[in-house]
Amino acid sequence: MRKITLGTSPLQVPVIAVGCMRILSLSLTEAERFIRTALDHGANFFDHADIYGGGTCEEIFAEAVGMNSAMREQFILQSKCGIRRGMFDFSKEHILSSVDGILKRLKTDYLDVLLLHRPDALVEPEEVAAAFDQLERAGKVRYFGVSNQTPMQIQLLQKYVKQPIIANQLQLSITNATMISQGFNVNMENGAAIQRDGSVLDYCRLHDITIQPWSPFQYGFFEGVFLDNEQFPELNRQINEIADKYAVRNTTIAIAWLLRHPARMQPVTGTMNLERLSDCCRASEIHLTREEWYAIYRAAGNVLP
Ligand SMILES: NC(=O)c1ccc[n+]([C@@H]2O[C@H](COP(=O)([O-])OP(=O)(O)OC[C@H]3O[C@@H](n4cnc5c(N)ncnc54)[C@H](OP(=O)(O)O)[C@@H]3O)[C@@H](O)[C@H]2O)c1
Repeated sequence: MRKITLGTSPLQVPVIAVGCMRILSLSLTEAERFIRTALDHGANFFDHADIYGGGTCEEIFAEAVGMNSAMREQFILQSKCGIRRGMFDFSKEHILSSVDGILKRLKTDYLDVLLLHRPDALVEPEEVAAAFDQLERAGKVRYFGVSNQTPMQIQLLQKYVKQPIIANQLQLSITNATMISQGFNVNMENGAAIQRDGSVLDYCRLHDITIQPWSPFQYGFFEGVFLDNEQFPELNRQINEIADKYAVRNTTIAIAWLLRHPARMQPVTGTMNLERLSDCCRASEIHLTREEWYAIYRAAGNVLP
């Protein structure tokens, strides 16, 4: 498994992060096999959130591997907080209590990375700064990042938070590539030119913030998987043709398309299927040509100006 540096941190992480949002669908035995398979592929970076399964996903993960301090270092564990029922909450009190809950459920003393899950309109960045300082001093969190945040929201945080923001987890897939399309359609009158994210892709590259694309196989907002989906005939034809050339499955090509972008992204996969997990990991070895990358982009219905 190829590795990248996570943001400006010294952490060397696998290019594929294994998302645990759907681990609830597995029995403990299945979960143990799933995690073991990921580790066998060198995919030891696991993405959690305090809200996945209402906390149950983190519990299942820790229980499945029999987490203890002796084995803790073979994992790189990331989790998120800040989403509550009916609101977002970046208050110091909520961040601190969320992390305590996460550590308890994951049966560990520390998180490698904590992300703030979704922007809170009522954020007081001084409080976030105080929470991060306390968590860092106590050794409970090593590095910090965000999710679904614009450049300006990150800059507002960084005015007060002294730890660098090392990752921004964002929705990005072949069929949801608005952050890429906007860069092609500068100042044009078409819909693709609309600034939806404040140039987050360029901003993250400029500031060495690793983009972690979430839901790399979904179209819409969890509407379904675009692969082998008759709603996307041209896209699937194109992906399958390239998959045949590399003698891999279409799943591998969908991840390889994200990895081909020079921003050095770390896609977060969601599959709980062992074979598909292996296919995702294989993408680490595939380097698409420029022609292939653009052909897939166009086959998804995107028009180059
Ligand atoms: N920061 C955020 O706001 C945010 C939001 C959502 C998710 N996330 C993170 O991102 C991770 C991934 O999200 P996701 O699960 O929605 O992503 P995904 O990888 O796009 O979707 C995975 C789902 O698609 C199914 N699937 C069907 N065919 C597939 C194929 N050929 N290849 C891969 N999957 C296929 C999987 O089923 P099988 O299990 O049967 O393969 C699984 O149910 C989550 O686990 C979570 O860690 C973050």
